[in-house]
Amino acid sequence: MKKVIVTGGAGFIGSHTCVELVAAGMEPVIVDDFRNSDERVLQGLAKIIGRVPKLHRIDCTDEKALDQVLKVEAPDGVIHFAADKAVGESVRDPLKYYGNNIGSLVAVLRSMAKHGVKDIVFSSSCTVYGDSDQLPVTESTPPAGAASPYGYTKVVCERMLRETSASDLALRAVLLRYFNPIGAHPSATIGELPIGTPNNLVPFITQAAAGLRERLTVFGNDYDTPDGSCLRDYIHVVDLAKAHVRALGWMGDQKAPLCETFNLGTGNGNSVLEVVRLFEEVNGVKVPHVIGPRRAGDVEAMYADTKKSASLLGWRTELSLADSLRDAWRWQLALAKGQK
Ligand code: UD1
Repeated sequence: MKKVIVTGGAGFIGSHTCVELVAAGMEPVIVDDFRNSDERVLQGLAKIIGRVPKLHRIDCTDEKALDQVLKVEAPDGVIHFAADKAVGESVRDPLKYYGNNIGSLVAVLRSMAKHGVKDIVFSSSCTVYGDSDQLPVTESTPPAGAASPYGYTKVVCERMLRETSASDLALRAVLLRYFNPIGAHPSATIGELPIGTPNNLVPFITQAAAGLRERLTVFGNDYDTPDGSCLRDYIHVVDLAKAHVRALGWMGDQKAPLCETFNLGTGNGNSVLEVVRLFEEVNGVKVPHVIGPRRAGDVEAMYADTKKSASLLGWRTELSLADSLRDAWRWQLALAKGQK
């Protein structure tokens, strides 16, 4: 695989994946309309890889525009990240999520079919497991029903890929179920750039530690977990990005049609309070926080069984939770410096 279209390549996971693709000798071509990302990522990428990657500013639900890109670029494959991802917003505005997340995958697949592109890696999420009582979850753990419209779009997209790969189009598809991606590139030149108030835990922690937010609210301490707060599987975004390179390599050796799912996590469950304490310890800063009520839709505990990705992709995480929290804080400090 040489040239790869990276939809959503200006986003958090997409930008880190572009770095790892270049490191592996591939050429990422970003397709992004910057609706939920920031132009600053382009300078950050240029600092790491020595140039701004090629970019097409288009909406991925616009099939005609995608056709043009695929015609001009003639890529070897596609990594499809572009999607909306805020669980709460998806409950308030489900049509935005069905329209964009499902609409963009339909457009990408139709355009791939027209241009003879057969390989796709899809950004899925552990959210498809819902509130599973079987932990750690394996790729064959039956999905317990996605708890939000956002989660359900991932269930639908996964099914669309399974059916399309087995259809006359005979695609090769790899579905990557991310657990909780956090951290930033260790150079502190790219990272997460949440627009407005962050929904996710770690960006909220870094902003609270930096004094940009008054305090973090820990959503619930009455769960059936060792300290009462929820457990999640937090994975460094650089480890996650590297898994995409492994997935492309593995897929290249398989026969079509193919549709294979992999969990991408560390295999560990860490509680919200553990994350707060470790962040304070490794960075020597305080995170003002209070305990609040549970957040609607949160599952008590979720962490990955990682055996399949280790044995088939030869991939496992190399960075620790402490590394992730250190890099997240360095990125927050770099952002603050850039804004002065
Ligand atoms: C969820 C989905 C994940 C999806 C992501 C998209 C599950 C298990 N995970 O992640 O697949 O990709 O949304 O955004 O469905 N928390 C606080 N205070 C805060 C923010 C968060 O205590 O201000 C807690 C949450 O209650 C949760 C943990 O921190 O226990 C992580 O939350 P978050 O970062 O929002 O990710 P998930 O909800 O786990």
